[in-house]
Amino acid sequence: MTGVHHFVVLGLLFPAFLKSFFVGAIFADEAYTTDWLVSPIGPYKCVASSDQWDTLLVVSEFNEEQGLVSLLNKTSGSLITRKTLEYQVDDVMLKDASVVLKKAAQDGFVELDRTYLFENEWVPLANETAPFVSSCRPDNTPGVVVDLKTKTVKVIDEDSKLPVLSHELPENFALLNWVETDYKEYVKLLITTADKHSFYYHIQNGKLVETWTRDESLFGVVDHTFIDLQDHSLEEIAAEIASERKMANVWDAYWFRVTTDVERLLNFARVNKFSPGRMISKMLHLDSFRLKSGMSPEEIRNQNLKFGLSKLLVVLTKDGLLAALDVSRNGEIVWRVNTIPGQHSLKVEWFESSRELIVFTDDGSFVLLELLDENSAPVLKTEGNILKDRRSCSISSIQSLEDNGSFFVKYAQPCVHPSEIVNINDEDSIMNTKENFITDFDKNSITGYIVSQGNTLKRTWDITLDPETDVIMAYSGRQHTEVTNPGIILGSRDVLFKYLYPDLASFVVFNKQSQHLTLNVINTITGEVIYSQIHNEEHVSPARPINIVFGEHWVIYSYFSLEPTPEQKIVVVELYESLTPNKRMTTVHENPLTGVEKPEAVSLSYFFPQIIKEMAISNTKFDITTKTIILELENGQITHLPKFLLSARRKNETDMTDDDKKEFMASPYMATIPISDYYVITHFRDILTGSKAQLDCVQTNLESTSVACEIGHDIFCTRITPSGQFDVMSPTFEKGKLLMTVFVCLALCIFLKPYVTRKEVKTVWLIRD
Ligand SMILES: *[C@@H]1O[C@H](CO)[C@@H](O)[C@H](O)[C@H]1NC(C)=O
Ligand SMILES: *[C@@H]1O[C@H](CO)[C@@H](O)[C@H](O)[C@H]1NC(C)=O
Repeated sequence: MTGVHHFVVLGLLFPAFLKSFFVGAIFADEAYTTDWLVSPIGPYKCVASSDQWDTLLVVSEFNEEQGLVSLLNKTSGSLITRKTLEYQVDDVMLKDASVVLKKAAQDGFVELDRTYLFENEWVPLANETAPFVSSCRPDNTPGVVVDLKTKTVKVIDEDSKLPVLSHELPENFALLNWVETDYKEYVKLLITTADKHSFYYHIQNGKLVETWTRDESLFGVVDHTFIDLQDHSLEEIAAEIASERKMANVWDAYWFRVTTDVERLLNFARVNKFSPGRMISKMLHLDSFRLKSGMSPEEIRNQNLKFGLSKLLVVLTKDGLLAALDVSRNGEIVWRVNTIPGQHSLKVEWFESSRELIVFTDDGSFVLLELLDENSAPVLKTEGNILKDRRSCSISSIQSLEDNGSFFVKYAQPCVHPSEIVNINDEDSIMNTKENFITDFDKNSITGYIVSQGNTLKRTWDITLDPETDVIMAYSGRQHTEVTNPGIILGSRDVLFKYLYPDLASFVVFNKQSQHLTLNVINTITGEVIYSQIHNEEHVSPARPINIVFGEHWVIYSYFSLEPTPEQKIVVVELYESLTPNKRMTTVHENPLTGVEKPEAVSLSYFFPQIIKEMAISNTKFDITTKTIILELENGQITHLPKFLLSARRKNETDMTDDDKKEFMASPYMATIPISDYYVITHFRDILTGSKAQLDCVQTNLESTSVACEIGHDIFCTRITPSGQFDVMSPTFEKGKLLMTVFVCLALCIFLKPYVTRKEVKTVWLIRD
C-alpha cells in the first residue's frame, strides 16, 4: 500500500473513529431491547367504553391534585395514550366523537377528543335538553349481578328474569370496573383483584373470546434499591476444591480430581454430541461473542450475569408492596411481598453483607426481611417499631449509618426532637465502631452532626438562613468516587491539580426579595463555606426545578432564569488546588477538624434548550469512563451530556492557544448546548414521571456501562455507555487470527530458545578462549 492509500484509509476511518467515540446512545439494534418501561395506570376510578369503541377509557388519580386519563386497547390491554389533567375527574360521559369529563372540585365540564385526548373546550352541560349521563357506573348496569359467594357474575334477562350468561371470577376478586352486555350473546367485563391486577373478559355464546390482564400494583412507588444478582457459575468448582482440601490422603484427593474432571469432560462431549469441531470452538469460546440476535435467552442471561448487568430493582410502593424487577429482563417481576399494609411506607434499604432488606413506614414500624434466594421472596426476620416512647411523632426521613442497624431519623414538625439516632437491634450495648459525620438540611438551615460512641448525636455546626428571604432550593453532597487521576493534563504538558478533599457539599440558595441565586460549597466537617458565587444579574424562577449535582471536583447546577431573558441555564464550577499549572496546595490536610485550604475555582454557564427537571451523575465501577450527566427533561425525555462538554474551562475559539487545542477533548466555548438525538436514551417513549420521581444510576461489572433508571409514576431503565462500549469485543472481532498469532509466537519462542542458549554458551566459550 502506498502512502497516498494510507491517507485515504485514514481519512475514511477518522470520521468512523470520531463517531464511535461520541456514541453515547443506544442505537436502533439495542433500542427497546435493553431498555424497558413499566407504566401502571393506578387504581381505576372510572372505566368507560361503548360498543363501537375499540378502546377503553380509564380515569384514575395521578397524584393528590392531578387526574390521569388513559386509553387502553380493548383487544390487547396495551396502553395507547394517556394524558395528565390539572384537576381530578369525578365522572365521565361518552359522546359520539368525544368524551366529557366532570371535574371534581368545582362544577365544570371539559370535553376531550376521543382518539388523541386533546382538550377541546369547556362545555356548559347544565342543560336540560342535553343532561350529563354517567358512562361509568358498572353497578348501575341493570341485570348484571355479582355473586360474591360463588364468585360469579351473572347477566339476567330483563323480561323473563332468567339468567342468560354467567362467568366465574378469580378467587381474589375485588371490584367490577366495567361491564357491557347485549343480554343475549355476549358480556364484556373488566375487574380488579385484591392484588391490584385488572382482568378483561369477553364472553360470547358461553365461550371466552378475549382475555388479558394488566398489573397495576406498581403504582405509587416511594423508594427503591438495587440488588446485584450473583454469578453462581463457579460455585460447583469451589465446592469441589474445598472437599478435595479436606481429604487426608493425597491419593484420594488425586483420584477425586481425576474422576470429577473425566466426568466433566465426558459430560461436555455428550452435550456437544461428540462432535470435535463443536467442542473445540466451544473450548476456545469462539462462539461466545456471536451477534446478539443469534444468542439464546439462556446465553444472554449468563452473559448478563457475568457482566453484572443482571440486577434486581426493588421498589416499595406507598401501601407497602415490595416488588423485585429484573433489570436485564425487561422489568419482569421476580418476586413480590406485602410488607406493612395499611401504613404509609417510606423507605427500603438493602444490606449487601447480611443480605437483608429493611422497610420503614412513617409511623416508625419496620420489618427486616432476609433474602435467602434472589429468585424468591425474602422471608421475615424481625419486625418492630423504632419510636418506642414517641408514638405521636411521625418520621419524615430516615438514613442508614452503618451495617450494625443504626439509623439517623428525622421527625416531622410537631415532634419535640427534630432528629436522633436509633438502633433497630434494641440493645444499648451496640456501639458505633467509628465516628460518623452527618450533614442534614432543610429549607432554611444546614446542620452538621457528629455521631459518637453510644449512638449520641451531637450538633457541631450549623448554617441558618433568614427564613423571611432565603430558601435552600437544592443540596448535594459530594459523590464518593475513586480518584483515578489527581490532575488534568493540559496541552502544554502542565498539570492542573484537582481539589479532591472528600467531605464537601454544595447547595443553592434562592433569595425571595432579589430573586438572585447563590451557590455555596461547604466543608461538611467544619461547616466552613469554601466557595460561593452569586448570580446577581439574573432573576431566577423559583417555580421551575433547580437541581445540583456534585461530582469529583466539580459542581453542576441548573435553574430557569426569567430575566434578562427567559432561558434554562446550566452552570458548572470546577475546583482546583490552584489555577496556576503545576502548583499544589502548601499544607496537607491531616486533621480535618482544623479546616483545610480553600480551592481556586473556575465557572462557566451554558444555555440549554429544554427545561431540566432532574439531574444525576453516571456511576461506573472504577470511575475511568467519562462521567456523564443524566438529565430528565420536563417534556418526559431523558438525555445525557458528557462532562467534557460541560467544562468550566472552555474558551472562545479566538482565545484558544495552540496548547489549549492540544488538550484532551478540548473544544471552544459555545453558549448553547444542543440536544443531540443520539443522546436521548428514551427514544420515542413517552414517560410519565411525576414530581417525586427519582433518577438513579448504578454501576455494572463492565466499566463502560451503567444502568440508569427513572423511577416515578412510570419505571424506566436502560443502559448507558458514556464513552462507547470500549470493553466489549465487537461480534466480528477475529479471535481466531489473534489466537493463531499467539500460537505462532509461542512456537517461535520454543524453537528459538535452545538456539539462543546454544549461541550464548558458544560465546562464553569463545570469550574464555
Ligand atoms: C389493539 O391490539 C390489536 C392486537 O394487538 C391490534 O391488532 C389493534 O390494531 C390494536 N388497536 C388499536 C386501536 O391500537
Ligand atoms: C342546550 O343544548 C342544546 C342542544 O345541545 C342547545 O341547542 C341549547 O342551546 C342549549 N341550551 C342552553 C341554555 O345552553
